[in-house]
Amino acid sequence: MDKMEKKETLKRIHAVDLLNCADQVVKVSGWVENYRDLKKIRFIQLKDRTGFIQVTLPQTEVSKEVFDSIQDLTKESVLEIDGLVKKSPQARLGVELIPSKIQIVSKAKAPTPIDMSGKIVSDLSVRLDYRFLDLRNPKSINLFKLRSRVLGFVVDFFENSGFIGINTPKLTSAGVESGAELFKVDYFGKPAYLAQSPQIYKQMMVCSGLEKVYEIGPVFRAEKSHTVRHLTEFTGIDFEQGFIESEQEVMDTVEGLMHFILKHVQEECAEQLIALGLDQKIEVPEKIPRMDMVEVKKLLAENGLKLTAEDDLTPEAEKWLGDYVLKKFNSEFVFVTNYPWAVRPFYHMKPNGDSKGTKSFDLIWKGLEIATGAQREHRYDLLKAQAKEKGLNLDEMKDYSLIFQYGVPAHGGCGLGLDRIMEQLCNLDNIREAILLPRDPERLTP
Ligand code: 4AD
Ligand code: MG
Repeated sequence: MDKMEKKETLKRIHAVDLLNCADQVVKVSGWVENYRDLKKIRFIQLKDRTGFIQVTLPQTEVSKEVFDSIQDLTKESVLEIDGLVKKSPQARLGVELIPSKIQIVSKAKAPTPIDMSGKIVSDLSVRLDYRFLDLRNPKSINLFKLRSRVLGFVVDFFENSGFIGINTPKLTSAGVESGAELFKVDYFGKPAYLAQSPQIYKQMMVCSGLEKVYEIGPVFRAEKSHTVRHLTEFTGIDFEQGFIESEQEVMDTVEGLMHFILKHVQEECAEQLIALGLDQKIEVPEKIPRMDMVEVKKLLAENGLKLTAEDDLTPEAEKWLGDYVLKKFNSEFVFVTNYPWAVRPFYHMKPNGDSKGTKSFDLIWKGLEIATGAQREHRYDLLKAQAKEKGLNLDEMKDYSLIFQYGVPAHGGCGLGLDRIMEQLCNLDNIREAILLPRDPERLTP
């Protein structure tokens, strides 16, 4: 009886701790990754969040009750097992578990709708339909473990650099980027919109006296884009900083952020990088080249990609530029500066004496835009005139216009897409792989 009670109170240990528990009786729990029945001996490969556990059932060493209890075991079932840890040179971890008790907590249906071993590759859309199962594939789960670490590094970077984390409303009465991209929702009978950027609020909080703010949060875009780089809901990393001299300082912050993230990924995430086949492939940027749009367009034209002075960069142009800077500067990154006023929002500051340019930039990583930033126009009269030029009336944007009337420093900021950062970091073909449960014009489930 005493012995029984002792067994009942066993605390669960994980796969990583098993090696330190040789000759002890322990409790483990997890999913059945594999099951083999060789008649006189049965093997269960159990998986928990830390790794794998080999459970061995020699018919002569375990009770008949335990041996028979797994007769019809299915893969992915959840088990709780008490047993003795034995050293075993043949086992992957150097130890195996000889069970004295097996409880089938939940029996899984067989077969599963997708193969998680990686042997049979399903279409991405099917994998996404069964995303929680897809994550049982080591490659998928390591991608999201890495994403979690990247997010942590972003927070560390901003907190170490004097930025204050903020959380701003995602239910708003209007947007500032452009009307076409707004999702409209019914707010107690009144129209409201899902925030397409924290732009207004981050500028407001710089003016509040916080000076340097950052936000990591959902961003909604009602864009019917069916591409491998657009989502309708993504995670934005936004920051804004006051008392700057120019947009160059905003770029310095982005450069510091990317350096910090990638340095820490390289130093601390070896397990994930190996699982994703990326261990030899992380470039930590030091100084990112900065190229003026005029110069970029000249190069593009020389290489058959002609754009007008008013054009935005096309995806093909970004791709070409990515290859060019890799060859020319041995850099995966490039800042393109001075975007045409025609393709930028009204709040981007214009350079002195240049009414067609903006003090703005994009960051291109391996041929894809991952960030857009700028110095903002903080002088009320100029801002009002710029709004008018874009067909907007600043007086009608009451909350936005107010913040420029009670003491506003020169300021600038930037927005980066976390999902795009993960797409590029992991060399994925599709942004949907980088996000747990993507939202696009066709997908609203699961
Ligand atoms: O370039 P965007 O639209 O810029 C802004 O939102 C500005 N308010 C930022 C600023 O501070 N000036 O978005 C910023 C970044 C893009 O560079 C891209 O990485 C990501 O957000 N992004 C998207 N990611 C996935 N799907 C989409 N539809 C995205 N749209 C933008
Ligand atoms: Mg952009």
